[in-house]
Amino acid sequence: MSITKQTIAIVGAGVSMGSAIAKSIAGGNYRLLLFDTNLEQLGSLSEEILQDHPEADFEHMSCPHESSWEADIIILALPHSAEKELAEKIRDVAIQKIVISIANPIDEEFSKLTTRPETSAAEELQQWLPHSKVIKAFNTTFAADFEQPVIDGKQTDAFIAGDDEDALKTVTELLETVGFNPIIAGDLSVSGTLERMQLLLMQLTIENDYNWHAGWKILHN
Ligand SMILES: NC(=O)c1ccc[n+]([C@@H]2O[C@H](COP(=O)([O-])OP(=O)(O)OC[C@H]3O[C@@H](n4cnc5c(N)ncnc54)[C@H](OP(=O)(O)O)[C@@H]3O)[C@@H](O)[C@H]2O)c1
Repeated sequence: MSITKQTIAIVGAGVSMGSAIAKSIAGGNYRLLLFDTNLEQLGSLSEEILQDHPEADFEHMSCPHESSWEADIIILALPHSAEKELAEKIRDVAIQKIVISIANPIDEEFSKLTTRPETSAAEELQQWLPHSKVIKAFNTTFAADFEQPVIDGKQTDAFIAGDDEDALKTVTELLETVGFNPIIAGDLSVSGTLERMQLLLMQLTIENDYNWHAGWKILHN
């Protein structure tokens, strides 16, 4: 467990995944820098964080560049379609930093991935941020899973992929703070599989009415 307090920027912190991640790690040994264009949503998020964690160390930021400049870890809680433009804005301040790709590049009908078969959202992000350590994480869990990571008596698995050993270790600790069971699935090229897994889980969730609270679990001896 890292004893140094790490600073995490969440870009798109106001809604859904961004706010779920912020709330679930606010009690950990982290300083949070929260950015969203919607200040009202950020205000509500702050109230919720303070209710559960009065000692939480966080602040609102006025732009993604400033947030990323101060951060050790950058989480992009945005649709993949917005990531290229965002990457251009933060590229110079994200050098050698961990950038977490949580995106599932899925079309509006939940029928297919929008990325080409030979790549993935995470690998595209790595191309746009060539000097950052892109890690795939948080994409195989729904926003609702963060409040209740134990489903049907089992701790939800959360898969991670990336090329940098230290960065994988750091993100593993982050997932443990949330309450998920982290599993390193492989290098960044595994990201496409993780994104396809979540497309399947979304399709099954719609078909079987899992109420957007479902997750993956590998059962083993
Ligand atoms: N929801 C889930 O359960 C879930 C699970 C796993 C992974 N993910 C992934 O998490 C990411 C965020 O998804 P979400 O469901 O939390 O919320 P979302 O509605 O996809 O987006 C959240 C944030 O993205 C910003 N945003 C949207 N379009 C933008 C654009 N074109 N340019 C810049 N910013 C834009 C929004 O800002 P504005 O308010 O200003 O539009 C908001 O701050 C996605 O990549 C998604 O695939 C979601």
